[in-house]
This record gives sequence, C-alpha cells and structure tokens, in this order.
Amino acid sequence: MTRPLRKAVLPVAGLGTRFLPATKAMAKEMLPVVDKPLIQYAVEEARAAGIEEFCMITGRGKTALVEHFDIAFELEATLRERGRLQAVEELRRTTSLPPGAIAAVRQQEPLGLGHAIWCARAFIGEDPFAILLPDDLVLSETPCMAQLAAAYRETGGNVVAVSEVPREQTNRYGILDITADDGRLVEVSGLVEKPDPLLAPSTLAIIGRYVLLPEVLTHLARFERGAGGEVQLTDAMTRLIGQHPFHGLRFEGRRFDCGDKAGFLEAQIAFALRRPDLADTVRAFLRRYVEPAI
Ligand code: G1P
Repeated sequence: MTRPLRKAVLPVAGLGTRFLPATKAMAKEMLPVVDKPLIQYAVEEARAAGIEEFCMITGRGKTALVEHFDIAFELEATLRERGRLQAVEELRRTTSLPPGAIAAVRQQEPLGLGHAIWCARAFIGEDPFAILLPDDLVLSETPCMAQLAAAYRETGGNVVAVSEVPREQTNRYGILDITADDGRLVEVSGLVEKPDPLLAPSTLAIIGRYVLLPEVLTHLARFERGAGGEVQLTDAMTRLIGQHPFHGLRFEGRRFDCGDKAGFLEAQIAFALRRPDLADTVRAFLRRYVEPAI
C-alpha cells in the first residue's frame, strides 16, 4: 500500500543573491507576490494537497519565515480593537498552522539542495515527503502539489513536476531522460543536473515540486559533489531509478521563476489579474503602459 503523504520540506536557506539589495536583510521567500509572501503560497499549496507537517531548512537571518506562521497576538489585539474582525479571521485561517505543525532545521553552510534536504532527515524519518521550492510559483486550477500527490497515489513512487523548457535553458534545471510518455506522466530513465544544451537528454525540466520516498536520504548521505561542486538532489534521485517507480508529471498550470527578476514581475501581473479586487485596475494601467499613445 502507498504510504500517505503528510510531510513537506521547504528549503529556504538560500542567500537570494539574485535579488540584492532587496534581500540584504530580508529572506527572499518573504518577498510578496501581490500581498502574500512566496513562502505562504508554498505552504497553502502543500496544505491543499493534504500535507500536515512542515519542515523549513533555514539559515542565518531567516527567522521571519517561521514567525510568519505564528499567532501574532499583539497584531490581532490591535485589529480587534479597531473592529477589524474579518482581518483577524483571515490571518488565522491563512497563516496559523496547528501547534507543532512547523519545525525548522538549520543548514549552516550552502552545500547544495541535496545537502539541504539531508538536513531534514530526522523530520522525514521513514515517510514519503514533498519538497516545494518557494521560488517556483505555479498558477493552476488544481494546486500543483495536489496534482503531484494524486500522481504519487497512482504510481506509488517518486514523482517530480516537469515542464518543457527551451533547449538553450537546460543548463538551469534538472533534466529528464525518459522511456515512456503518455502525454501526462513520463517514466524517468535518467536525470542530469544542469546539462549543457548540446548534451541534454531532453528538454523536460524539473520544476520545484517533488514527492520522494525516504530512501533518497541514504544516497544524499554520501555527500557526493555534483554540478557546481554542490551536493545535488538530482544525483541522489538518479540512484532511485530502477529501485522504485520514478515519474515526471506534466502538471496543468503555469510556472513562474520568482528567483528571477523578470519571472517575479510576470508573476505579480498574472496573480493580480486573477484577483477580483485588482484585476480591472491592473488591466487598465497595463494598457496605459503598453498601448502606443494616439
Ligand atoms: C534546483 C534543482 C534543479 C531544478 C530547479 C527547479 O536548481 O537543482 O534540478 O530543476 O531547482 O527550480 P536551482 O534553481 O536551485 O539551481
């Protein structure tokens, strides 16, 4: 029987150097898209997939990320005094997790995504777990992690979210080698981290959503250095192929790379246009900027 998926790991120890100076004194995962920080999108998406326990892999200067999910008593008291009961209710609903549902472990040195996940080994234990990279934001009808969780229940093994990317961009992603493809699920026969476009086995790239079996930890514990001299999650996942089912899921939805300035700006517009309270205003001002003056 497939073990239920209840845990998620959120790697958030990165320095966010691509977003300096904004990230000099603030975690990049606290950057808001419209009015919600990236970390909250990731947590909401995971909860919509039935995840109940969270572990953030953090580092220095990242405490705000964990605090964001506390109950803010002083803030709530002030809002209540001002009669803003709906705001209190909304804050509780979206940012307060049940007691004990969030844990944080530290990754003291930036040794790679694989090393970050290994830091959560005690939290993961013997259970399957989800990984969400908050930089990757997905706008979809069904939350991306819920789609992945369904594919996990269907296949009983490892599943990664994948998207086609232009060939010249394969060196930014983990890339799949595949055997079977039904248009939605692909069977993975190999994985390469950030291959040169000329050598990439396909143009199907891993987007920052994974459901993995705990066996990956054994391989991470070898600390083998891969692309960029880092301990790569992709390399440890490669070792699961052939041992356990391994699939890529072409998810429904659009992914925005919020670790990139242009991707982040596009996400602001796409998410604002989905908001009933903002859509008309934003559409109107966008027209002013892009339509040639008459
Ligand atoms: C990481 C992974 C890579 C994956 C990407 C998705 O790379 O190592 O396999 O395709 O996330 O965003 P990073 O973006 O941290 O360099």
